[in-house]
Amino acid sequence: MESLVIQGGNRLKGRVRISGAKNAALPILAATLLSEEKIEINNLPSLEDIKIFISLLQELGVQVTPASGHETGSPLQIDSSRISSFEAPHQLVRRMRASILVLGPLMARLGRARVSLPGGCAIGARPIDLHLKGLELMGANYKVSEGYVEVKARRLSGAHIYLDFPSVTGTENLIMAGVLARGDTTIENAAREPEITDLVEMLNSMGAKIAGAGTDTLKIEGVRHLSGTSWAIIPDRIEAGTYIMAAGAAGGDIEIENAVAEHLDSAIAKLRAAGLRIDCEHNIIHVRSRGRLKSVDLKTQPYPGFPTDLQAQFMVLMARAGGLSVITENIFENRFMHVAELQRLGAEIKIEGRSAIIRGVKKFTGAPVAATDLRASACLVLAGLAARGSTEITEIHHLDRGYENMEKKLRNLGADIVRVCPDTDTEQ
Ligand code: EPZ
Repeated sequence: MESLVIQGGNRLKGRVRISGAKNAALPILAATLLSEEKIEINNLPSLEDIKIFISLLQELGVQVTPASGHETGSPLQIDSSRISSFEAPHQLVRRMRASILVLGPLMARLGRARVSLPGGCAIGARPIDLHLKGLELMGANYKVSEGYVEVKARRLSGAHIYLDFPSVTGTENLIMAGVLARGDTTIENAAREPEITDLVEMLNSMGAKIAGAGTDTLKIEGVRHLSGTSWAIIPDRIEAGTYIMAAGAAGGDIEIENAVAEHLDSAIAKLRAAGLRIDCEHNIIHVRSRGRLKSVDLKTQPYPGFPTDLQAQFMVLMARAGGLSVITENIFENRFMHVAELQRLGAEIKIEGRSAIIRGVKKFTGAPVAATDLRASACLVLAGLAARGSTEITEIHHLDRGYENMEKKLRNLGADIVRVCPDTDTEQ
């Protein structure tokens, strides 16, 4: 199994370019099922999750060019004129739970869907009850059998939906179900993430009629047909936030280009309070980190609050800050899997329910650690940059799901980090 080996201690310097957002690309790829006309997608990141989602579309009969998926920077052509299946098979869904995003578009286009239940993952149970309740209100019936959820509807009708929790993919599935429904749909307590706004704007460019993107109330007027479009994915705010915190962890002076600073307002405010110097102009975020950071408390919240996907990375900064801080994870019930690994590097952290109490230490010492989930792997990379000596991170397939060329981008910033492939014993 591949691993990353980091010799810590190098300060970061230079420029890094942010890739397209994974969590915008996934719903936008799903939305291509809604039109019988050709769609071109640009700025797709080259990630495992994207490759799996493209395989899922092909499994449903969608023509994708190039068939092998895309290389960074090259457009993807998609033709969903002939959908030959309404089933998202277990062997794909178990590898990438966001496969559930085909549910809404398949129901809108075919009135049928059979999707393997995504099941839980390292960070929580990850239920889909809100997705299904919304579809029921739109006239669908569903049953669960043999690990699959089977959903049917003659034709979806508009409905007034109130989400008990502003679920991101729940909101996305119900938007995609509503755009071709008969009548109007209102979604209250909708998620407000920028990735949802990107999906809405792409759908409106195809002839959908959706108002309220970025607010907690979405109004969708059902239409009969959606045309093709050409769409570029927004930059990944979580990748950008991760690199800001890499500079905070290792120290240094970096410029992050192609980032949308306003998508990170809450995170930037918190990081400035901790003592990072962050200047934003046009699409460049300039980060300077000098000296020890201050301990500040954190509570994760739905957007526009501090994102749960940056919680683990922020913990690395607090684990070396000059005092005591409390991080409370309000979105997922088990998103502290990285704590045990950080303790191996010398972090002093105590978990009490949904909170982690962190006493900052002056230094980390490198050690072998294992990644447990996508954002935990990023956290361990940042910790390795800050640690004295060598840190080896295994199970880095988690990292490859959501970060494009991370070790190359960090090496270009001066980090000493290599990917080791044991069977060929080569370094990349
Ligand atoms: C999306 O997951 C993101 N994934 C996650 O990013 C992100 O952490 C999460 O939103 C929160 O921001 C994608 O966009 C592909 P939720 P999602 O539905 O939609 C509960 C990453 O690292 N809930 O907003 O699955 C749920 O249990 C990934 O890139 C229900 O109870 O998250 C959780 O506690 C990780 N019933 C909370 O809501 C439901 O039907 C938030 O879940 C749906 C969700």
